[in-house]
Amino acid sequence: MEIVIVESLEEAGEIAANRLAETIAENPETVLGLATGSSPLPLYQALRRHVSAGLNMRRVSGFALDEYVGIAASDERSYTATIEREVTGPLGLNPELVHVPEGGASDPQQAADRYELAIKSAGGIDVQILGIGSDGHLGFNEPGSSLASRTRIKTLSQRTREDNARFFATLEEVPRHCITQGLGTIMDARHLLLFAQGTAKAEAIAAALEGPVSSRCPASVIQLHPSATVYVDTSAAARLELADFYKYIYTNKPGWSR
Ligand code: GLP
Repeated sequence: MEIVIVESLEEAGEIAANRLAETIAENPETVLGLATGSSPLPLYQALRRHVSAGLNMRRVSGFALDEYVGIAASDERSYTATIEREVTGPLGLNPELVHVPEGGASDPQQAADRYELAIKSAGGIDVQILGIGSDGHLGFNEPGSSLASRTRIKTLSQRTREDNARFFATLEEVPRHCITQGLGTIMDARHLLLFAQGTAKAEAIAAALEGPVSSRCPASVIQLHPSATVYVDTSAAARLELADFYKYIYTNKPGWSR
């Protein structure tokens, strides 16, 4: 893992967007895994500047991490709408190449199975963008999720529903179920890019990066990935015991590995 501690996620968004823009310029058919939530927004915003400067993302494919079950895709709070608003539209992706699990499907498990196949048919995800839940979830893989799980229906924890209640008028309106890429699906991506900010994430980040690999903290599975970069702001990094070491490594990174 490469752990990069930054003053703000705006700084992380710039660094990550520069790297991602190079990747896309080299391979215009890059397949991205797309996270919603506030943490990846600085990356998407920084990518907009690359697009304005000429980066063409029309042939890039996207696979959202997750979607609620129980609200319509057309609902502005759905992740389908969020991805369209934050990614597909502003970055000029071809909507036909952008996929979100069908939370409204009459048979959600069949929809989840189709999603796995679609990822395979696209050649697998090159770069999976991730946030982390305050309970350590990745996508919507809540504590207790199998570390080998595939895309499937999950029940949201009460803590996640409370965290996400800010997007709804009342807690009661927050869906109880979702379809999410599994941890095994996420781990199949060639590179993982995780963003976390704020003290509310400090405990989850410490457990994920320095705790035991355990379904108690689903994000800890990232320790088993051969190519993962984690950007955390100083607040989210507050409980990392090896924070100074991670800063030392990053500052002394040799040119050839940048
Ligand atoms: C939701 C999403 C996750 C996301 C998490 C954190 O629960 N399903 O994929 O990582 O929120 O969101 P934020 O980045 O807004 O803190």
